[in-house]
Amino acid sequence: MSSAATEIKRREKPVIAIDGPAGAGKSTMAAHLARRFGFLNLETGAMYRALALKAIEHDLGFEDEAALLDLADQTKITLQPQREGNIVLLDGFDVSRRVREKDVTSAASQVSVHPKLRVWMVEQQRKMGEAGGVVMEGRDIGTVVFPDAEVKIFLDAAPEVRGNRRYRQVMPGSEPEHVATEAAIVAELKERDTRDRNREDSPLKPAEDAVILDSTGLTLEQVLTKAEDIVHAHLGSQV
Ligand code: DC
Repeated sequence: MSSAATEIKRREKPVIAIDGPAGAGKSTMAAHLARRFGFLNLETGAMYRALALKAIEHDLGFEDEAALLDLADQTKITLQPQREGNIVLLDGFDVSRRVREKDVTSAASQVSVHPKLRVWMVEQQRKMGEAGGVVMEGRDIGTVVFPDAEVKIFLDAAPEVRGNRRYRQVMPGSEPEHVATEAAIVAELKERDTRDRNREDSPLKPAEDAVILDSTGLTLEQVLTKAEDIVHAHLGSQV
């Protein structure tokens, strides 16, 4: 029996992997599927963000892999799944809002290129999902973290569409200094896409057996219905 098959047998419940570029709506989809099927939603990007925040606080260079790894070894990151997303604890402190700010967003993409740091993250993410019953979202869930995930969805959309959605999402209640123009948001998304897709280790790409769902031109409701259909098609009576 292959090791992947052994893994599947050991898990009590399935893993649903959702990957895709920034702003595609992965978190919304993960939260929805988790509610619908009684799973836990885990946003792995928040872990990269939390470590990036700590690097900022410690004034570390984002290119210094050894220092970042050292920092990671003295860091505890906890994700607490909620109905709408995750509470993120960095060494016990709630940083859920702070990690969404612009400087941390850019830093997270930069620190996530380092292979050793990714090993550190992947180890923790595998532990978090080992019993199954999770919807885990990120960039490398279906390819690296759980290549044996029972369901893999790669959620994509045109950069302009993702930027427009994020613009509308970010505006209400944003601090004035964090309000960006729509064009600036699209430019930032494209920059992150380029880095995430072209890094040497675990670049963002669909797993060979992922179902690709392009939400350009679809309403949120249509996307969520399609995602539910994909889960049903793969899990049948398991959910
Ligand atoms: O999903 P997000 O925007 O919160 O992710 C922040 C950054 O973390 C993103 O630019 C790439 C990185 N990331 C990653 O490399 N692998 C993951 N599984 C999740 C996120």
